[in-house]
Amino acid sequence: MSTVPVKPQVAAHVLRCVHCGKVQETADRMFHCTQCSELLEVVYSEWASAPTGFALRLKEIWRERRGSSLPENASGVWRFRELLPQVDRRNMVTMCEGNTPLIPLKKAARELRLPNLLVKHQGMNPTGSFKDTGISAAITMAKAEGFSWVCCASTGNTSASVAAYAARAEMKSIVLLPAGQVAAGKLAQALEYGANVLQLRTDFDGCLKVLHEVVRKFSAYLLNSLNPYRLEGQKSVAFELMEQLDWQVPQHVIVPGGNLGNSSALGKGFMELRDLGLIESLPRISIIQAAGANPLVRTMRENGGTELIRVTPETRATAIRIGNPASWRKAVSVLKNTGGTCEEVSEKEIAQAKAELGAEGIGCEPASAATLAGLKKLAASGFVKPEDTVVLVLTGHMLKDVDYMKQLPGQNLLGPMEADGDAVIRTLEQIYARH
Ligand code: F0G
Repeated sequence: MSTVPVKPQVAAHVLRCVHCGKVQETADRMFHCTQCSELLEVVYSEWASAPTGFALRLKEIWRERRGSSLPENASGVWRFRELLPQVDRRNMVTMCEGNTPLIPLKKAARELRLPNLLVKHQGMNPTGSFKDTGISAAITMAKAEGFSWVCCASTGNTSASVAAYAARAEMKSIVLLPAGQVAAGKLAQALEYGANVLQLRTDFDGCLKVLHEVVRKFSAYLLNSLNPYRLEGQKSVAFELMEQLDWQVPQHVIVPGGNLGNSSALGKGFMELRDLGLIESLPRISIIQAAGANPLVRTMRENGGTELIRVTPETRATAIRIGNPASWRKAVSVLKNTGGTCEEVSEKEIAQAKAELGAEGIGCEPASAATLAGLKKLAASGFVKPEDTVVLVLTGHMLKDVDYMKQLPGQNLLGPMEADGDAVIRTLEQIYARH
């Protein structure tokens, strides 16, 4: 186990409103600004006075920690703790989250003529989605504050992650889910990890609304991405990605968009690296939505991002079936600050992209495949150029939503047939002849 020298901790922070800029004395339970009710963000007031050379030393510190098996170093979130809120190590709730692979695509790279095309597979987290990085950070804050109950509304993945991390922390969890709209794998996880699961006759946006009432009445810590500490954990993907790319900034990073916390977190991570001098430029961060759940796309196209246009969401990519995204303002800033764009893709385009990823051995859930579908459009329009390095963020594991597969045509599934050698060989001869 390598020993890592103790380093200056500069991560004292405040919570500041993203809209009116008010620094909060106290945050309400929904993490809204006490002045204008908008969302809050974590700001590290002491970074401006961080000693010269401090930031550059970080790369070395983080690299050294990779060889350590201490929980706070083995975590792909807490390994970067100089850029996170300071916490007592005893409160850290971690399961080695992050540490996800960066994999080059081959077939899609050839077909799109983008030789530098990679996927960052966040589905390889402990509960199979990117949520774990954010939940590790936020539930740690809940523990530090002495909560024993946590809660969330979810399209499924957050609930799986909240349930698992609550179980690890020996806390109780409440999750509100839209009845009948959550992939079976995700529901099974929430139940397995002992969450109190309430299925409501509404969509995700309706569940989030009811959650406001729950946190007002009960002492339960909110773990949705309204919670700015969620985003602190999720921004670590930017740090990890830059390490994997040897600090060479890609031209594009493409993420799916639902409640828009993840794109906001990713942007925050990259902007902090730039502000600290760890990278010199920013990647363009682009957000892809399903055409049936496209509030951000409409907002950008119809009013340039000044006022949210809500929609009634409908898509089989249930993870991103959201019409009233909480973090839309943060996401608009990320698009503007990084020069990214947003795009919508049809159900057919999502299914096609998912099949293409699968055909090169990369499984993911439908929402994640929206990134490849979106990239095709961005490459066709010239926004993405052949020489660009492009990273698609795959947000969830393929096994989360196996029912989706059953509805797709063109699967190589034959039978049931008789267990008869001759019949099987005849069938295989036909298959061989086709290839
Ligand atoms: N991809 C997957 C697999 C997701 O589960 C989600 C969101 C997103 C993309 C979109 O991320 O909301 O930060 O823009 N799932 C949430 C949930 C809403 O409850 O699991 P976002």
